[in-house]
Amino acid sequence: MKPRLISGIQPTGRLHIGNYLGALKNFVELQNSGKYECYFFVADLHSLTESFDPKEKSKQILELAADYLATGLDAKKSVIFLQSTIPAHSELAWILNTITPTGELERMTQFKDKSKAQQENINAGLFTYPILMAADVLLYDAKFVPVGNDQDQHLELARTLARKFNKRFGASFVEPKALHTESPRVMSLVNPEKKMSKSDPAGCLFLDNEPNEIKKKIGHAVTDSGKEVKYDPEKKTGISNLLQIYANIEHRAVKHIEQQFSGKTYSEFKSSLAEVVSKHFEPFRTKKKALLAKPQTLMATLKSGSIKAAKNAHRKISEIKKRVGIAL
Ligand code: ADP
Ligand code: TRP
Repeated sequence: MKPRLISGIQPTGRLHIGNYLGALKNFVELQNSGKYECYFFVADLHSLTESFDPKEKSKQILELAADYLATGLDAKKSVIFLQSTIPAHSELAWILNTITPTGELERMTQFKDKSKAQQENINAGLFTYPILMAADVLLYDAKFVPVGNDQDQHLELARTLARKFNKRFGASFVEPKALHTESPRVMSLVNPEKKMSKSDPAGCLFLDNEPNEIKKKIGHAVTDSGKEVKYDPEKKTGISNLLQIYANIEHRAVKHIEQQFSGKTYSEFKSSLAEVVSKHFEPFRTKKKALLAKPQTLMATLKSGSIKAAKNAHRKISEIKKRVGIAL
């Protein structure tokens, strides 16, 4: 049997090139390698921990489903589903809650960052978020989890909880491992010391940005006062970030890109990058528009994926309840 892998993204807005290069591109490559049984889901329960408008949520869910399909995920090759349709995620999360020391959660960088960013809404879900994430993964006996490296701490908790549960209740869970890409962390265009994040849209290059916006955003990307297009993440964070993006989109080594632009100006380099990005995502933009024009089909895709995922999830949660001693 092929090893199973799982990953999810929160439906909280448009995806940016950091999500793509750090996660989604890898999802598609892993799916197409044929080496894994792949599960990808829309993490809608996780997204409730950020402030949102209920009228917008279903649109965001369908938009993420369209992003998945437009980048190349394929419901014939992968199980693509909606987290909230499967109650076992929440049930397992509750059981795992009871074996998680609160100290583990207090250490989480994402919790600290998000608590700072949304001081008016530091809800308990934000705090227990990593437990639900552990449940998402452990429920499917997934061996691998393709994510950006900002999720490593959460995945470490999933491993810890798997070990702890197995020790206390008997061998039940697989310990999952993260799978990273070549560029596990893309930095913000306006502040290259910080990761590109949806919570700071000015620094994001969105996957469905039109060519003129791409040109403007890359043109304004913060760089140093030097002249050389050279990879040096310490001294030239901005240029190094752009080089990394260029290299990963074109599947070429950073060294080759440096050579291509030796003696050229930052502005020539940026124009070329803008063109490369615009062209690369042209089919994505077209496909996404077509998918969003048929919301019923997107919904049906998520529903049929959810039916497949639910079979495994139900089997596992019944086994876990027996282990814990709460099955009738
Ligand atoms: P955001 O921080 O923009 O809200 P999410 O938390 O929704 O992004 O992340 C979705 C996926 O994209 C995760 O696997 C995450 O690790 C990855 N990811 C997010 N931002 C970046 C980035 N700047 N560079 C690389 N990967 C990223
Ligand atoms: N926490 C992830 C993020 O913020 C999303 C996520 C939720 C996830 N559950 C998961 C990723 C399970 C991988 C596996 O991006």
